[in-house]
Amino acid sequence: MFNIINKSRVTYFYNEFIIKMFRDKERKPLLQQIKELYLLARAIKYWPHNYFKYDGYKKNKSLDEVKLYSTGLLFAQFRQDYINDCRYTVFADDKFLFHKLMADAGIPTAKLINVISHNAFTNEYKGLNSVNAEVILNAITADAIVIKPVIDSQQGAGVNVINVNTNIAKKFEVSGDTYDSTELLKKLFSEYSGSYLIEEKIQQHSFNHRLYPEAVNTIRVDSLLAKSGEVIINSAYLRIGRNGRKVDNWSGKQGGIGVNVNIQTGALSSQGIDYCKNLYSEHPDTGVSFSGLEIPYWDEIINMVKEAALQFPNVRSLGWDIVLIENGPLILEVNGDYDILAQQTCTQAFGKNNLFYSELISYSENTEYFKHYAINHQHL
Ligand SMILES: Nc1ncnc2c1ncn2[C@@H]1O[C@H](COP(=O)(O)OP(=O)(O)OP(=O)(O)O)[C@@H](O)[C@H]1O
Ligand SMILES: [Mg+2]
Repeated sequence: MFNIINKSRVTYFYNEFIIKMFRDKERKPLLQQIKELYLLARAIKYWPHNYFKYDGYKKNKSLDEVKLYSTGLLFAQFRQDYINDCRYTVFADDKFLFHKLMADAGIPTAKLINVISHNAFTNEYKGLNSVNAEVILNAITADAIVIKPVIDSQQGAGVNVINVNTNIAKKFEVSGDTYDSTELLKKLFSEYSGSYLIEEKIQQHSFNHRLYPEAVNTIRVDSLLAKSGEVIINSAYLRIGRNGRKVDNWSGKQGGIGVNVNIQTGALSSQGIDYCKNLYSEHPDTGVSFSGLEIPYWDEIINMVKEAALQFPNVRSLGWDIVLIENGPLILEVNGDYDILAQQTCTQAFGKNNLFYSELISYSENTEYFKHYAINHQHL
C-alpha cells in the first residue's frame, strides 16, 4: 500500500507541492523540514506529500498541528478494515439503493425519475420494469433533469445536467448541444456503459442561488456513528461551483470553492479555499462575500444527517451531500469513501475535533492503526 510510486504521482507532487513550497517566502528552513518529515514518517508513516498538502512546511504550522491531519491512505485503509463493512457500503455507493433507503426512512432526496441501462446483446435501452428508455425520456415533464451514473460517478464526473424542451417532440440540451431521446441515449451510453440514474434537477434555495446560480451548491457534512450509537458530526463545508461549471465538486483545478461551516451555528467562515489552495473572501464570479453568512435551516440539516446516518449501522463513517431547497434541506447523496483531503483542507484537521477523534482512537484500539491515531496526545 505504501509504495505505489509512479511517474504521474511524482510529477503531480513536484508541480503541486515542491515548486509552490520553494516559492513560498513563509516556509520553514530546509533542515527543520527534513527533521520534521523524519519525525512524522517514523512516528506515524506520514508521507512527505501530506506534509506539503497540509502546509507543514509553513512557519505558522507547528509540528504538533501538522500531525493532527489524518493521511488519506491510512484513513482509507482504516475505514475499510474497521469502520465501514464492505458488505454494506453498496447502500451508500449505489445512488438508486440510497434513494430507496432514504424513501423508506422518510428522508427527503432529489426526485427520482428512473434508472436506465443499455443491453449490449439486444442493443436495447431499458428503464425499471423493462420500460423502453426512449418512452421514459419522452414522458419527462420536468424542465431540467440530471442524468448520472448510478454507482461509478465521482467528483462530478459523468454528471449530465440537461435542459428539457417539454414540447411534444422532446429535445434535450446538454452543454449547448441538442439531442432527441434516441440520440441522447446513444451519446450517454457511448460515454459510460453502466446504469444511469435520472433525477429532476433541483431548484436550490435562494441563499445558494445568490452565491453561484449555475450549479446546485451542496454542503458536505461528515459523520461517524459512535459505538454508543450516537452520531458524531465531525465537520462541514459548503461547496460552491464556479467558472460556468454545472456541478459544485471541489477536487481538481477546475473544481469549486469550499467554505468551512461552523457545525454549531451554520455560519460560514470568512474565507473559502480551492483545490490549488487559493483563498477567496468572495465568490470570483458573483462577487458575493462569505463573511457573516449563515446557512438557513442549519439545525434541520444536522438532525437530518443524524437521522440518515442511523440508517447505516454498518457503514459508520460517511460524507453527506446536502442540498437546500426553499422549504428545507434534502440529501443528494452519501459517500462511504468521502475525500478527507478536501474535508480537512476546507475545514480543519481530524485531530482538532476531540469527540470525533477520540472515537477514531477507540475504533483503532487493538489494531495496527492505534499508534497513528493515538499519536496526537504525545509530542513527537
Ligand atoms: N438532481 C440534481 N439536481 C441538480 N444538481 C445536481 C443533481 N444531482 C447532482 N447535481 C450536481 O452534481 C454534483 C455531483 O453530483 P453527485 O454528488 O450526485 O455525484 P458525485 O460525482 O458522486 O459526487 P461526489 O464526488 O460528491 O461523490 C452535485 O454536487 C450537484 O452540484
Ligand atoms: Mg457528490
